Amino acid sequence: MPLTEFSPNVARLEASATLVLAARARKLRAAGVPVVDLSAGEPQYPAPPFAARAGIRAVEEGKTGYPPTSGLPELREAIARYLCETTAEEAVDPGAVIVSAGVKQSLFNCCYALFGAGDEVLVPSPFWPSYTTIVRLAGAAPVIVETTWDGGFVPTVEDLEAARTAQTRGLMLNSPGNPTGAVIPPDLLREIMAWAERHGIWVLSDEIYRRLAYAAPAPSVFDIAERGERTILLDGVSKAFCMPGFRIGYAVGPQEVVRKMADLQGQTTSGAVGPSQHAAAAALGESAPRETFVDDLLSRLAELRGTGLSRFAEIDGIEAFPPDGALYFYARIGGGARSLDVAERLLADVQVACMPGEPFGSPGHLRFNFAVEPEVLEEGLERIAGFFG
Ligand SMILES: Cc1ncc(COP(=O)(O)O)c(C=O)c1O
Repeated sequence: MPLTEFSPNVARLEASATLVLAARARKLRAAGVPVVDLSAGEPQYPAPPFAARAGIRAVEEGKTGYPPTSGLPELREAIARYLCETTAEEAVDPGAVIVSAGVKQSLFNCCYALFGAGDEVLVPSPFWPSYTTIVRLAGAAPVIVETTWDGGFVPTVEDLEAARTAQTRGLMLNSPGNPTGAVIPPDLLREIMAWAERHGIWVLSDEIYRRLAYAAPAPSVFDIAERGERTILLDGVSKAFCMPGFRIGYAVGPQEVVRKMADLQGQTTSGAVGPSQHAAAAALGESAPRETFVDDLLSRLAELRGTGLSRFAEIDGIEAFPPDGALYFYARIGGGARSLDVAERLLADVQVACMPGEPFGSPGHLRFNFAVEPEVLEEGLERIAGFFG
């Protein structure tokens, strides 16, 4: 007999599937089972030492009071400068930046501030599961726009137009994308931004994997002159700077929206953790160490991507999509098996943890994180080959 009926706010809310599976793998490992964990959505490497030291110094120097709700001025300035240095945008106003506890919180604040009952938000699929959940929490309806393997897992303007209704208020973009690693090329991004502007649609561009691109640099919405005012860029330090546990993300958009997001944040969590903000300011601040860190990470990941793709090509029964960015192999499995079942069997039979496609809106696929140590990836692929072979 349940203790209570939950409010409609959360009645349909389920635990994050990605976190649940990662937790199950961790539990097995804690019990001594030699799990190869390729399920995580994070690089398995340490944060930049210069960023970590800045965080520690902040604690030691007693910088532990409540931080400003929208973020420390020095971090908002560092973010504005970083965006000017790494995109075509020439001037970003630090007042247009809000710092949150990860991109996830920025995204929640943004959706909650902009969307509500009766609104539709287009979400290209496969998608990061939090997009649909957060849109629903805001009271709006996610509208899935299918993309395909053969179409490179990117939405075309025709696909978006076919899904548009009078209720369409927003579009989620994620390039490079989780789980596929697909990158929206500059010309297509330009077309999409112009289309959204024409129809007064808010574009929420989650660029958390932007710096992790293998074929060519992944364009930002800040590279696109045709973008409209209704553009919000979301990014953070969790992936390209290996700092997911610091919980620092940010959004950049029109000041009236950013201010409303700050009002919401001020009534829920207040400013993001202060010492983490100092660490993030150091990570993004000085361009030479920052770019060396990103370059080193990128070459490490490019190598793992290359060896992984070659190994997958030798395994029958599973085919990996070549990712142009991010840190995942998204692989399709033949035979019409449910990927949830296959993921569970992979964990039970050969102790490899991965993510099934269902939470990403695309059953029949499995997602493997390749941002691990080379020997971990090798061992994982060996076991995967044994499982499918
Ligand atoms: C596409 C995407 N956006 C956002 C996040 C979360 O970012 P943060 O750690 O900044 O909340 C993730 C994490 O997996 C992600 O894959």
